[in-house]
Amino acid sequence: MSTNNTLVIDENTVIHPSKEFSAKARVSSMEQYESMHKQSIEDPDTFWANEASDLKWQKKWDKVLDWKAPYAEWFQGAKLNVCENAVDRHVEAGRGNKAAIIWEGEPGDKRTVTYQQLQHEVCRMANVLIAKGVKSEDRVLIYMPMVPEATIAMLACARLGAVHSIVFGGFSSESIKDRLEDSKAVAVITSDGSWRRAGVVPLKDNMDEALQNNDTVKSVIVLKRCENQINMTEGRDFWWHEETAKVTATHKPEGFSSEHPLFILYTSGSTGKPKGILHTSGGYMVGTYTTCKYIFDMKEDDVYWCTADVGWITGHSYITYGPLFAGVTQVMYEGGPNFPDWGRFWSIIEEYGVTIFYTAPTAIRAFIKAGDEFVDKYDLSSLRLLGTVGEPINPAAWEWYYNKIGGGRCPIVDTWWQTETGAAMISPLPGCTPIKPGTATRPFFGVDAAILDEDGKECEVDQPGRLVIRKPWPSMLRSVYGDKQRYEDTYWSDYDGIYTAGDGARKDKDGNIYIIGRLDDVLNVSGHRLGTAEIESALVAHNSVAEAAVVGKPHEIKGQAVVCFVTLKTGITETDELKVELRNHVGKVIGAIAKPDAIHFAPGLPKTRSGKIMRRLLKELVATGKVTGNITTLEDSTVIAAIQKSITG
Ligand code: WTA
Repeated sequence: MSTNNTLVIDENTVIHPSKEFSAKARVSSMEQYESMHKQSIEDPDTFWANEASDLKWQKKWDKVLDWKAPYAEWFQGAKLNVCENAVDRHVEAGRGNKAAIIWEGEPGDKRTVTYQQLQHEVCRMANVLIAKGVKSEDRVLIYMPMVPEATIAMLACARLGAVHSIVFGGFSSESIKDRLEDSKAVAVITSDGSWRRAGVVPLKDNMDEALQNNDTVKSVIVLKRCENQINMTEGRDFWWHEETAKVTATHKPEGFSSEHPLFILYTSGSTGKPKGILHTSGGYMVGTYTTCKYIFDMKEDDVYWCTADVGWITGHSYITYGPLFAGVTQVMYEGGPNFPDWGRFWSIIEEYGVTIFYTAPTAIRAFIKAGDEFVDKYDLSSLRLLGTVGEPINPAAWEWYYNKIGGGRCPIVDTWWQTETGAAMISPLPGCTPIKPGTATRPFFGVDAAILDEDGKECEVDQPGRLVIRKPWPSMLRSVYGDKQRYEDTYWSDYDGIYTAGDGARKDKDGNIYIIGRLDDVLNVSGHRLGTAEIESALVAHNSVAEAAVVGKPHEIKGQAVVCFVTLKTGITETDELKVELRNHVGKVIGAIAKPDAIHFAPGLPKTRSGKIMRRLLKELVATGKVTGNITTLEDSTVIAAIQKSITG
């Protein structure tokens, strides 16, 4: 240990929780963790029944788990209302005046929403949706900024048994259109615009474009946020503030079956269009709640802040649902981390006394690059626990997070999970697990994680293989919306009755699991999942492009950068203007987050004789500048030299 409590950290450093932290934690020794984990795997019914009893069930279940691989039913026979558990339960327990959401807008406006106020707002929105004819199981598409109304909209849907499907505000109208078509949404909740680094993202305009020729959406509720000029279509579009003023603030939460659909969230896969991941009610509630309780150690006095957007799964499970099930006070922030400067997050932590902070490695790397002076101005002593999610965290970023943000005092929970898993799956428990940079450590309760080779044999210590989950868990996805076959093929076809995550991983001699990264053609750019197939299909949809291949290149801040190789149609000239046009074209088709970092023109793409593009070679080429190994199986091996030239210029 050096001076100022700054611990020098590398990938071999092991940090044990302090006695003080452990003493107050729910799980305070590894023996306790091991025995609870053992019970959760060997006798899941008893384990989960016990956890579920913290929550409110209008009718108790007959059976905890019914598993007919790959289909699970959790808390079979039970009736519950998810929204009642997130909101009403706390009001009934006399905590109505407790702040549920402390919100800060990007321009600096502030608002606190208590549990009581949240209940009223949610009831109003539920009544508005009823007035617009929305019924149980109807799909409602939500496209909103990070404002309390986003959470209110989600909870209002849940209250009615309507299925929300959120589209992240950075996605384009074409992406919304695809999701509207796939989900056949009957209503939309959006806003005029969204603040982003002092500019307005025209959410309603994007929505209008997406709604052209749509015949399923009957009503659009529009929140006034940025006061930008928008068009309101008579009979279809309604202002949030006008509609909510017409209805009452009371609504009785009906009990729905435990497997009632709760939401669809689209995510990228290796092929085709994004998949609608379907989550249901009871199991998802128990899974997100339990992880908040044990991994985030949420307690009555905590002020918790997760910097994700509600458009991603992290925002669903660890902003809207889990923390509200746990009844904590949480901070919600609307804008970018560097507005007006890179100190914004730290000023928020100081101002509201945040105790638990959850962010992504890509953000941490950006903060490191921006410089310590933005952190040093603020008092971060309220923090007691830190978390990360989205991608592996490199030791340098871990060290900075631990020392600079956590003051060498806060455990870091590196949580591995996915849109599909619904809740965190592999993570330290802060009061007991020895933590180490770069590893998400141990499986959470009920998670039977393993690393298998291609034949299904468990890998040896440190041998990389495929990360799988061998038993069902409460918050698991139930299907791909409208496409059971895709669900079975994508997740359950590698090994019989076993879930394949799509990530490579290895386990060290102490049982710590290290996530290596995606094994499929999915990129992880700033913690966001993008399918190479989606970007390729956007590129070939441009009339100049004959063929395209997209790969990820290691990137200092983003983790991976999007690099495209494009073969133009005969007669089209390779110009820098065209590169800019193609870049914007991808932004228009998918959304700004998918805009390529580099586009290279290539006379041809490396293909096998059967015509398959060998992305592996391109990946190696962009990472190292060369290709090792045999390329004689290529249909035309001269393309490699030509591509090499196009990269080096
Ligand atoms: C990656 C985000 C390493 C992984 C919750 C996974 C991680 C994908 C971690 C899911 C972590 C997530 N360490 N890698 N702690 N957390 N990932 O669906 O590749 O947006 O498969 O869910 O992110 O991304 P998704």
